[in-house]
Amino acid sequence: MKITDSIAYIGVNDHEIDLFEGQYAVPNGMAYNSYVVIDEKTAVMDSVDANFGSEWLGNLAAALDGKAPDYLIVQHMEPDHSANITRFMDSFPNAQVVATAKAFDMMQNFYGQSYEDRRIVVKEGDELSLGARTLRFIAAPMVHWPEVMMTYDAADKVLFSADAFGKFGALDVEEDWACEARRYYFGIVGKFGKQVQAVLNKAAALDIQAICPLHGPMLTEDLGYYLGLYKTWSAYEVETEGVAIAYCSVYGHTKEAAELLAAELEAAGCPKVAVSDLARDDMAEAVEDAFRYGTLVLVSTTYNADMFPFMKEFIDHLADHAFQNRRVAFMENGTWAPNAAKAMRAKMEACKDIEFVEPVVTIKSALADDSRAAIKELAAVLVR
Ligand code: FEO
Repeated sequence: MKITDSIAYIGVNDHEIDLFEGQYAVPNGMAYNSYVVIDEKTAVMDSVDANFGSEWLGNLAAALDGKAPDYLIVQHMEPDHSANITRFMDSFPNAQVVATAKAFDMMQNFYGQSYEDRRIVVKEGDELSLGARTLRFIAAPMVHWPEVMMTYDAADKVLFSADAFGKFGALDVEEDWACEARRYYFGIVGKFGKQVQAVLNKAAALDIQAICPLHGPMLTEDLGYYLGLYKTWSAYEVETEGVAIAYCSVYGHTKEAAELLAAELEAAGCPKVAVSDLARDDMAEAVEDAFRYGTLVLVSTTYNADMFPFMKEFIDHLADHAFQNRRVAFMENGTWAPNAAKAMRAKMEACKDIEFVEPVVTIKSALADDSRAAIKELAAVLVR
């Protein structure tokens, strides 16, 4: 697949994967992108997952018509991209590998060698001439690991963006970009908003006509849309007006309360309500919704004088990913000593710039007139 006259796609689709990075469900598979830039010299941009080395090298051979490549540029050492470095270097004994110093340290640790006699160590602003075009390297630490760099091809105005602007999903499945890009963003780099902003600022100085990430589709049109979403996400700003409700329920009474709140919010004119059952729905999707909307309502049964375990896990995910700058409200259920709201609030104190919204709704075992009224009151406060 050609991206420009000089850049070809040589990546692969993975439909066998169970969990991406050991934790994310990817119902539509995953793409490990790789590219080859063809000039007087040829440069391959990253390798692919361990299971796809033969397919990747086949794609490379087809793109180069059997010609040997000159460089392997390693932008990121996570094994979904680095697993075939050794195979590449063994296959092309005259090729050199180009990466940051940190990446070479990781290469040594992962694969037992760092090619001291066949390598070019690069840093922010360094350039590599391929002939008519020169590649410029842009340090992108913590997007997603510390060794990461991006690469800019000024001739074709292409930014190779490493993990940034990636998404879950293989490239042979059609689906909305933002939904799976947002779940990917907040799961993979959500914690590192400052670092993403630093790279976005560097990118703002470049003339970019296409973004080629390591996952998901190549972005060739309407780049302002994608850059705008990354700006919003990395600044922890509200993307969509609405309320995310995340609940845990044992016998369905707490679920009923969460659903009543959703109905009351909609009746009161809330533009969007997203409800997640933390025990049954995808946890990363619930995290994504918490970051997407301006308000989060946490709803849990009391369990061992605390919140339900899935709620603990959810709040840990939020805190670990630097959740901030949102309104948060609580609803709890308890048959003899309701305590989930207090416990959830104490745990949410780990997140900064949170506005806690009253009233806290308490349900005693099952919805009753007083708790229904409290839910209606909370809905009215949240849409105000
Ligand atoms: Fe796609 Fe951070 O690896």
